[in-house]
Amino acid sequence: MNYRHAYHAGNFADCFKHALLVLLLDSLARKPKPFFVLDTHAGAGRYDLDAEAARRTAEANSGILRLLQRPSANLERYLGLVRQLGLYPGSPVLTGAVLRHGDRLVCCELQQDDAAKLRRVFRQDPRVEVHERSGWEALNALLPPREKRGLLFIDPPFEATGEFSTLVDGFRCGHDRFGHAMSAAWYPIKHMAPVRHFHAELASLGIRDIVTVELYLREPTNPGRLNGCGLVVINPPYQFEDQALSIAMAILEGIGDDENGRAVSVARLADE
Ligand SMILES: C[S@@+](CC[C@H](N)C(=O)[O-])C[C@H]1O[C@@H](n2cnc3c(N)ncnc32)[C@H](O)[C@@H]1O
Repeated sequence: MNYRHAYHAGNFADCFKHALLVLLLDSLARKPKPFFVLDTHAGAGRYDLDAEAARRTAEANSGILRLLQRPSANLERYLGLVRQLGLYPGSPVLTGAVLRHGDRLVCCELQQDDAAKLRRVFRQDPRVEVHERSGWEALNALLPPREKRGLLFIDPPFEATGEFSTLVDGFRCGHDRFGHAMSAAWYPIKHMAPVRHFHAELASLGIRDIVTVELYLREPTNPGRLNGCGLVVINPPYQFEDQALSIAMAILEGIGDDENGRAVSVARLADE
């Protein structure tokens, strides 16, 4: 395991996934019954964008730091949370901000020091558990929860070969064990061949109601570069496709440099 999220926190891909994560969480919080969130690859929770790791890559400069300078109505909710939460928030801290009394969040993180940091972030919050264990294994071991509603949020580092297939297996496992929940997973887009294969594998699972949202900074032709990214969602909430499109467009307009091939797309992989 080499991937450390502190080097990438706040980049365009992080903003894309987090703005959509908040959209999914808000839809859960609209109904009174308690909900459960499993964050399978949770990271450290908070990131100092002035620290050495973030400054070395400077990825946040063309991500969150740019977005914060260019307010947009479609990103107001997400950017409002980022401003309110102080140190740049990762997925568990954003989720923690939306949880109500009675809702629960379970986080998994394999890096020992990141798991320890995350535990410190939530030490006073009885609604949140942090496990230093594999998120893939947790999809089997920790589901179903006692709550009837929820979200499985899967955000792997994509450093191992075969991670797209692992993700398909994880999705199937999560769906088998907690099928009425929403599931959302982030994926990188470098070039199209692995993405097309991933979509085909997902579509062949026989699971209904699957939508993908994708953002391209440029033509996805260089396999050595993160040219875009996507979020695949099972059981998306009402009006998700329109709202996700507006959010992805606002991110692209806010951060995208003027390169050929800039685009966003929302597509259905499986009907409702
Ligand atoms: C992309 S980062 C997560 C970022 C976080 N979800 C966020 O949005 O703030 C992926 C994280 O997964 C962790 N990780 C890698 N393999 C894992 C596994 N099998 N189970 C749980 N965490 C893992 C890495 O240490 C890294 O912190």
